[in-house]
Amino acid sequence: MDYVKNTWYVAGWSSEFNDELRRVTVIEENIVMFRNSSAQVIAMEDRCPHRMLPLSKGKLIGDDIQCGYHGMTFNCEGKCVRIPGQSNVPRSARVTTYAIHEVNNIVWIWMGDPERANINDVFTMPEFNDPDWHAHQGEALHLKAHYMNVAENLVDPAHVSFVHPTTLGNASSENVPVEVSTAGDEIVAWRWIRDSPPIGFFKNFGTFTGNVDRWHYYYLHLPCTAVIDFGSADTSLALGEEERDRGFRIFALHFITPVNADYSIDRWMHLRNTAVGDEGVSKKMDEMFKVAFNEDKEILEAIQLEENRPQRRRPIRIAIDKGPTVYRKRIRELVEAEAVNDLGDPIDSTFVHHS
Ligand code: FES
Ligand SMILES: [Fe+2]
Repeated sequence: MDYVKNTWYVAGWSSEFNDELRRVTVIEENIVMFRNSSAQVIAMEDRCPHRMLPLSKGKLIGDDIQCGYHGMTFNCEGKCVRIPGQSNVPRSARVTTYAIHEVNNIVWIWMGDPERANINDVFTMPEFNDPDWHAHQGEALHLKAHYMNVAENLVDPAHVSFVHPTTLGNASSENVPVEVSTAGDEIVAWRWIRDSPPIGFFKNFGTFTGNVDRWHYYYLHLPCTAVIDFGSADTSLALGEEERDRGFRIFALHFITPVNADYSIDRWMHLRNTAVGDEGVSKKMDEMFKVAFNEDKEILEAIQLEENRPQRRRPIRIAIDKGPTVYRKRIRELVEAEAVNDLGDPIDSTFVHHS
């Protein structure tokens, strides 16, 4: 299985959790989640240790989950607190719990070794708490596609000219080469398209009258978070590469949750430095994003169907593939390192000599 385990994944937006039991699947693990009476989000293995009925089919009694089959009841720590018809509760009567961290109205879940869960590793960016920026949560895009194919699409500025010709791209970017940096922890792919007509998105939301300089920076944080910094400014401003805040700037964020080998959820949202507080603008932007992301969905699901069929030859690689190639390599290394760690302490290799 090619999932990184020691990482935080997005389990949902904060608004998705309330006092109802909800099943969530992350990297093929089924989890039951709810918000308890202290407003904390709780996550546990969605399987009763008795006959394996999913606990999400039971019900909440206060902050405890009562199994829907024989009523065994588990508290927020996963400990069994009641077995109807008997007074002793064996120690094995427990379910695994998961660490949760909720920040920026996003609920993150730690899928790896509990000892290694560190909330300082949860993705955030300063614009979430900056009054000059507006944060708006969009929706969850369900894709019948492997998460690595989804992620690779999010470090790939070249596709917008062809996949999103009416919203995020246009023909003037077709032949502009993509630059890539793999020097840091995140993989960055970007390009500038100077002195060309605005794309559909900025025709709708900008006040541009003539040509613009447009940028697209894709930051992929391993394993599953993508930040797409895109924007435009009047060409007359002659914007420097590090002056993007002077233009109309948007961060489109994508949080990918791998569900299983051919199914992923992409929760998308944006941060913008314009129309702060204007939810009407947020809604209209969502409509455009939805058009664009459904275009990605169509592509990615069609690719998945082909990948699942017998292969005659390896896919070829072209110049724009550097970001995706490095991404896959890094994921492979992380997964392999975890597999080795899972084997436990190395075997003592001291030789014993017999005479
Ligand atoms: S299956 Fe849960 S109590 Fe029996
Ligand atoms: Fe796209």
